[in-house]
Amino acid sequence: MAHDRDRDESLHGGIADLDAVGNLLQLEPLARRVLPPEVFAYIAGGACDERTVADARASYDRLALRPRVLVDVARRDRATTVLGMPLANPFLVAPTAMHALVHRRAELATAAAAREAGSIMVLSTLSTTPVEAVAAAAGGALWFQLYVYRDRGATAELLARVQQAGARALVVTVDAPMLGLRERDRAHGVSLPPGFRAPNVRADGESPAEALGTYFASLVDPSLSWRDLAWLRAQTELPIVLKGVLRADDAARAVAEGVAGVVVSTHGGRQLDGAIATIDALPEIAEAVAERAAVLLDGGIRRGTDVIKALARGADAVLLGRPVLWGLALGGQRGVAKVFALLERELDVAMALCGCARLDDIDASLVR
Ligand code: FNR
Ligand code: LAC
Repeated sequence: MAHDRDRDESLHGGIADLDAVGNLLQLEPLARRVLPPEVFAYIAGGACDERTVADARASYDRLALRPRVLVDVARRDRATTVLGMPLANPFLVAPTAMHALVHRRAELATAAAAREAGSIMVLSTLSTTPVEAVAAAAGGALWFQLYVYRDRGATAELLARVQQAGARALVVTVDAPMLGLRERDRAHGVSLPPGFRAPNVRADGESPAEALGTYFASLVDPSLSWRDLAWLRAQTELPIVLKGVLRADDAARAVAEGVAGVVVSTHGGRQLDGAIATIDALPEIAEAVAERAAVLLDGGIRRGTDVIKALARGADAVLLGRPVLWGLALGGQRGVAKVFALLERELDVAMALCGCARLDDIDASLVR
């Protein structure tokens, strides 16, 4: 049974009774119980005082819904497309590093669950499984998140691999010229797993230092700027999405430079502490982009109503970070599938109760 295999392959025991989990928020304390404290801290934590982490949830509570009544919602359609690719629901898997920290099948389990749910997985550069194997598990449903290396030759080689493997878009993370100050990581002595190698990093690259921040700084180019976009575009035929945009002027510039989309993101509050909540940054960005590119959002999406609020404020779809890791830790592929199923059900009910039969019916008037 898939269930047993997922539990057997869970590094930390997983849980037997995923069926009893009622919502995404309930997964976090369960994950905390099964994960080593330093792994839980790495996932849960943010930068400095973690104000942006906390505000990601609080920001949704500040918005109230204004439902429409007497709309025929007997049939609801949650399907959409992003960059021309189909999604069963308006959510994707955000790129998160090192899934092998929480499950033996690591990114392969996540990719298989995303594919079965009709979603798309964005694979981190710092994955613990090579992009070729994950692409096979994901079918066509894979995008690749890029950290641009100091070594541009290695970056170009990686981009060739990514395209060859069948990834369908490139998500360039632009909010991390260096890693944020993760005080919780330091307090818990978070370090890279012994013998860790990032298989998407060239094999003759530097061997990892102790701390993630040091490793990150050795690889990733802090000089990356708008000037490099043209170089990037020349290295790949894939559509380029910029992840970590929080201002209308940057979004407008990204569109002018020909990007296919932006992800409004604070990196889960792990980079600049005090950064604006993404749902608050979203309206000016959606206005600046004006349908010329895809607008995605992540950060603190835990409820179907959060998805409605994001779409009402102009997002085409949202991404899920930590909840996917909690599901993976607790039940492998089945755990990630549970995350999708729970959120899908909540979105379905929320749409009905808001008087929206289709995602297009979710407009700005729905929130205050
Ligand atoms: C991340 N995130 C991230 N982003 C990225 O571009 N590359 C990466 O390798 C990682 N790694 C990573 C690891 C972990 C443990 C977390 C929690 C997050 C950020 C991620 O893509 C996303 O922006 C946030 O996680 C979204 O917020 P929520 O859904 O976690 O609240
Ligand atoms: C993180 C990096 C790896 O947020 O993106 O931990």
